Amino acid sequence: MEKYVLVTGGAGYIGSHTVVSLVENGYTPVILDDFRNANRVVIDGLTKILGKKPIIIELDVCDQNGVKEIFESYKFEGIIHFAAYKAVGESVDEPLKYYQNNLMGLINILSNMIEFNVKNLVFSSSCTVYGEPKGIKEVTEETPKNFPNSPYGFTKWIGEQIIEDTFKANPSLNLMNLRYFNPVGAHKSSLIGEFPIGKPNNLMPYITQTAIGKQEELIVFGNDYPTIDGTCIRDYIHVVDLAYAHVKAIVFLAGKFGSFETINIGTGKGSSVLEIISAFESETGQKLKWKYGKRRSGDVTEIFANATKAKNILEWEAKLSIKDAVIDAWNWEKKLIEHNEK
Ligand code: UFG
Repeated sequence: MEKYVLVTGGAGYIGSHTVVSLVENGYTPVILDDFRNANRVVIDGLTKILGKKPIIIELDVCDQNGVKEIFESYKFEGIIHFAAYKAVGESVDEPLKYYQNNLMGLINILSNMIEFNVKNLVFSSSCTVYGEPKGIKEVTEETPKNFPNSPYGFTKWIGEQIIEDTFKANPSLNLMNLRYFNPVGAHKSSLIGEFPIGKPNNLMPYITQTAIGKQEELIVFGNDYPTIDGTCIRDYIHVVDLAYAHVKAIVFLAGKFGSFETINIGTGKGSSVLEIISAFESETGQKLKWKYGKRRSGDVTEIFANATKAKNILEWEAKLSIKDAVIDAWNWEKKLIEHNEK
């Protein structure tokens, strides 16, 4: 019998890697995506990796009737809910777009889970819910949440709260918030990866785009932070490792009769911006053009995961390194030229 898992946003960056990991572990993903923020080339890539075309339903996750029909058609083992907007800066300019899409999508999924008695949900949350951690920069799930710096961050913050409250009212559900740190890299095959729309906001795509000549030079945002080299510190996690954490989450939830957990998904190690640049240069042999600029408003100085809970509860830990991530990100960037030429 097929074990169907609904993957909303399954054509996106983390979603597409999770689709691969689900298939590798015996599940049948059902992708729900309307491609507003995803590229159709991902489906070609997935088809090549998987050896067959995955199931795709082209739909807005906020479409109440459409999503209901999907729940009528499949008996899902679980849902992994990725579909959401994710650009921090854009969310400051267009808050309603973010609150509408990110919260209505989640509410639609939860309502259908209750109506159709689907028990298991994994929600894409973010370390943004910690805001700027006070004191220790290695955060556990018990570290108090702080208000995030953007409407995007608030949609994750409130999303977690919606899930917790839904669990309290429906204690037979199995719900999990995964708080991602900074996803980087791409699938080894270079057949899937991130398609940044417009100028990238995130560090890794900006590095690879600068190295390939799409961007003039990388600006390192601030060199006067109280860190080892003055640049910010983040926990960069390979997207393939991150994807597998979702499979482990679905496996964990499948055995539960009422469960609510929040788990950090990171490597447990922080790296500075300069360390990432240096890893990129040494692993790829590319010289990167960069200079220091002003601090970017809203940036947290330093944060990295305590990943013990993921290890204990999900039996998951990151296996791939920053070296793997920079090589895979670079190979993907080179491959993107072919896609852009199509
Ligand atoms: N950085 C640069 N230059 C750039 C881009 C980034 O120096 O051109 C630096 C940033 O200042 C930061 C680090 O690289 O120190 C990482 O920045 P990213 O934008 O890649 O990642 P963030 O940590 O800012 O953002 C991530 C997720 C968001 C999430 C946020 C919450 O991408 O979705 O963490 O902490 F909201």
